[in-house]
Amino acid sequence: MSLHIEAKPDDIAPVVLLPGDPLRAKWIAEQFLERAVCHNQVRNALGFTGFCKGKRISVQSTGMGMPSHSIYVHELLEHYRARVLVRVGTCGSLQPHVALRDLVLASSASTDSAMNRQTFSGMTFAPTADFELLRFAYDAALKRGLRVRTGNVLTSDTFYSQDLNWWKVWAAHGVLAAEMETAALYTLCARAGARALSILTVSDHIVKGESASAEERQQTFERMIELALEVAVDHA
Ligand code: HPA
Repeated sequence: MSLHIEAKPDDIAPVVLLPGDPLRAKWIAEQFLERAVCHNQVRNALGFTGFCKGKRISVQSTGMGMPSHSIYVHELLEHYRARVLVRVGTCGSLQPHVALRDLVLASSASTDSAMNRQTFSGMTFAPTADFELLRFAYDAALKRGLRVRTGNVLTSDTFYSQDLNWWKVWAAHGVLAAEMETAALYTLCARAGARALSILTVSDHIVKGESASAEERQQTFERMIELALEVAVDHA
């Protein structure tokens, strides 16, 4: 066990899906995994391991934001030898052509956070997805007829900004959407030599001020999990 995960070393599979929300982790396990066993209840950060299409897959909730996400990803990498980590989450669109309910595959993640500035002594690391996971997910999404975008996302430390124009400089540089975890995931996996991908659905539109209904969120979340599991099963 590690500090925040009570599972025994072999209780967690090398391929792990990472939702922020513990109840989403439970829902994924109940809907999509066979013989799922709960491997973590510490702080209610629920985690489960089961089987999908005969392959052993884990799902571990990570909470919101890079500090919380980093704790779980660090422990999965260092204590449980996770090798393929797929974040499944939501994002806010920063571009007129990226619509509510679209899928966004984060090929890279810019950030307003100071976390990597400390790690890299003021220099700039470019957190990047695993290309093969990205290509596989993109092709699979197209085959499923999903509206999918690939590009740079902003991993922000702030959900509620005091500055109404905060998003404009990122949008002007082609950043597709804002979320709060991917830069940490890609950085930690790069250091560990593990593979990572963030698959996101657009739950709100920052430019247009729209948000998806609860029903739309659930539907799009379901489609995203099916895609993420296709990626997970192929890489297990
Ligand atoms: N900002 C940050 N994270 C998010 C957002 C957002 O607008 N929407 C969903 N996750």
